[in-house]
Amino acid sequence: MRENVPLASMTTLKLGGPARRLVEIETEADALAAVVDCAREKLLVLGGGSNVVIADEGFEGTVLHMATRGIDVAREARSDGRVLVTAQAGEPWDDFVSEMVARNLSGIECLAGIPGLVGAVPMQNVGAYGQDVAETIERVRTWDRDLGRVVTFSNADCHFAYRSSVFRGRDRHVILDVTFALHAVHVDGASRPLHYAELTRALGIGEGQSAPLSRVREIVIELRRKKGMVVDPHDPDTRSAGSFFTNPILDAPALDALRTRIDPLLMPTYPVADGRTKVSAAWLIEHAGFKKGWGRGPVAISRKHALALTNRGGATTHELLALAREVRDGVHSRFGVLLEHEPVLVGVALEHVYQPSRAN
Ligand code: EPU
Repeated sequence: MRENVPLASMTTLKLGGPARRLVEIETEADALAAVVDCAREKLLVLGGGSNVVIADEGFEGTVLHMATRGIDVAREARSDGRVLVTAQAGEPWDDFVSEMVARNLSGIECLAGIPGLVGAVPMQNVGAYGQDVAETIERVRTWDRDLGRVVTFSNADCHFAYRSSVFRGRDRHVILDVTFALHAVHVDGASRPLHYAELTRALGIGEGQSAPLSRVREIVIELRRKKGMVVDPHDPDTRSAGSFFTNPILDAPALDALRTRIDPLLMPTYPVADGRTKVSAAWLIEHAGFKKGWGRGPVAISRKHALALTNRGGATTHELLALAREVRDGVHSRFGVLLEHEPVLVGVALEHVYQPSRAN
């Protein structure tokens, strides 16, 4: 346990002040001892620090820095052909994906190259290239700080939705391990059917077709790298928290309203299962006038992807959030669509107060 520990270096944005206390967690016993010890305090579980924005003032509570390791693969597949695999919360996610691909277990290969730890993926139902973890998570074992005991969530109990779950934005449950149900495929076997156009194009296959797991993993990493979404210490475009905003999901009246403000043929849209429509936040940002690379001093939109806000060096959280507000308000003013932030904000807020402007 250490006190007054700077957190910036533990985040991919390289932002944030000190934690009052920080506990390194290497075993589940460490985790349980720490959560009991700080039962009444504010708690922040920090994994890879890739999806948090921490206040410049830091965090007035205890940070658990998770480093629990271990992967347990069931010896036999279930009758539905799926194999249960349990990973400790502190396993690095991308290493876990690589290992599953190497073992010919399919279901998370499109999620290669994503920073962070296994324990963080249920939080915001991590997703990319047409897969999200809600499709393969079987259960999540947690410590429930209110009940003071271990509580296991089934997939349904997690209430997964687009970039969200029952765990998001709360510090009640500390995730201890996650069990996935992955599809066993033959040696050098095929991925799940792929539907993300950019990915199938890069693989040279048709929509709904499959490709070898290892190839899917490689191409996904290549695509992510081109967008600055693979952390590289030498590339300031990757000093971000990934997508800063989620893609808005609009009902029919909201979509119609948006279409009156823009040439609907130009705007990329994606149907969602419930009949609503997802629109691209990155596209809205660019068409509201915030081009890639646009910025203010040490904070800027990534030069590789309009959805990532970056610290170009020496920035503060205050400056990053000012940029986020400017982008959000600019998009709202131009299109009437309010972007929601995606990373977890710690000790700071992007107030939902919008100053009406000329466009309205
Ligand atoms: N686009 C732009 N400008 C850009 C980038 C994209 O206009 O700078 C438009 C393009 O029309 C493109 C569309 O936006 O076709 C979608 O872009 P992309 O495929 O990059 O996906 P995204 O919606 O921006 C989401 C996830 C990413 C994930 C990718 C790939 C969210 C919030 N983001 O991004 O996840 O990697 O899809 O599946 O859902 C993350 O969550 O942190 C993240 C990186």
